Amino acid sequence: MRVLMVCLGNICRSPMAESVLQHLAPTWAVDSAGTGDWHVGDPPDHRTITELKRHGLITSHRGRQVEVADLRRFDLVLAMDRRNLRDLEELRPSDATAKLALLGDFARPIGEEVPDPYHDGPATFAAIYAQIERCCQGLITAYPDR
Ligand code: 4NP
Repeated sequence: MRVLMVCLGNICRSPMAESVLQHLAPTWAVDSAGTGDWHVGDPPDHRTITELKRHGLITSHRGRQVEVADLRRFDLVLAMDRRNLRDLEELRPSDATAKLALLGDFARPIGEEVPDPYHDGPATFAAIYAQIERCCQGLITAYPDR
């Protein structure tokens, strides 16, 4: 299973989701990217690194912008919020093979968004970690044989 996690900046939510899913599904190919290009080459935000560390996880991800080829390369491209999903739908080529969805489509109730935490503090990063972990567990349950 090849999964790409996508948010806006690729420094807060999606690198966190990448690390959490890779930890829960070590045999899957997991990556992350941003719809924006402001943080290309940057390490994840220090608040994401701190929250991952609290759970014993590390990240070596560097920011990159999502590209058209990603929509042919991955099985699943998962947006953190509806704005990200809309931007991905606009980018999607006619021969795209990836399924596009919200990460929150794999939680109950389906369709929840992982909100942009950029202007918030550590408590929000702890909350989105818990949300992301719950969604990733739902995702793994949805694809038990992959
Ligand atoms: P992310 O958060 O999409 O979860 O990585 C953001 C990071 C940076 C910006 C916006 C959101 N920014 O505008 O630079």
